[in-house]
Amino acid sequence: MDVSQPALENALAGLRLGRVEYLPQVGSTNDRAAALAAEGAPDFSLVMADEQTAGRGRAGRQWFTPPGSALALSVLIRPTIAEATGDLSRFSALGALAVCQALELSFGLSPEIKWPNDVLLSGRKVCGVLAEAAWNGTALEALVLGVGVNVCPGAVPPPDFLRFPAASLEEVIGKPVNRLGLLRAVVESLLAWRAVLPSEEFIAAWDQRLAWRGQRVQLIQAGTPPITGRLLGLNASGHLHLQTISGASQYFQAGELSLRPVDNG
Ligand code: BTN
Repeated sequence: MDVSQPALENALAGLRLGRVEYLPQVGSTNDRAAALAAEGAPDFSLVMADEQTAGRGRAGRQWFTPPGSALALSVLIRPTIAEATGDLSRFSALGALAVCQALELSFGLSPEIKWPNDVLLSGRKVCGVLAEAAWNGTALEALVLGVGVNVCPGAVPPPDFLRFPAASLEEVIGKPVNRLGLLRAVVESLLAWRAVLPSEEFIAAWDQRLAWRGQRVQLIQAGTPPITGRLLGLNASGHLHLQTISGASQYFQAGELSLRPVDNG
């Protein structure tokens, strides 16, 4: 279906948002949302694009958003004092959790989170989240939460580009998806989970969705040997709890770490 500025506004009607902007084409919605932040746009302003020509993933990787194929959106967050002084990694988990809930409520799916914030369906990545902060000295001025969902098969990059198996939502459910309907469900969930971001309930919901719980996984970090252990879940701070082969517990904060399953046979 065609997306336009009026169609986007209509799809999001009644939600407590700031500015809402639709762009047929943009470099990156995260850059556009950061520009809106610099212009003084209010909390929870949202940018959605049909096509990104310079979409970014984590660790400076490329993110593909060909026209008509994906949900590419960024939300500008003006953090409250409590949010700004809390653990910012919760914001990227917020994106993953919102997408999981939207997929569950809209399509009856059971998505999982590849810690910290990739959304998997049947073990394949359908969504990535990129949270970026704009600082004014030591004060956190704004956060941009970018969410990319592979809706149609055309959004999935060719296998040579993939570091982890990927899929599109339409491939998984076997029917066309209304992108604006999905967008509304994601935004409703973002609003609801943001309201309880500092809570134990938030960590519990994140924890409950983790892929490979109880299984052996590897944490990969550039420049250091991978760490293998059994994935036990999250601690109260949202740090990943692994039990290493020696039986010791190790905790990891979300950062430039990549999680992989190990052959559990
Ligand atoms: C990742 O898994 O590496 C994160 C991907 C994040 C992609 C989204 S699409 C909307 C927003 N704009 C960007 O340039 N990136 C994010």
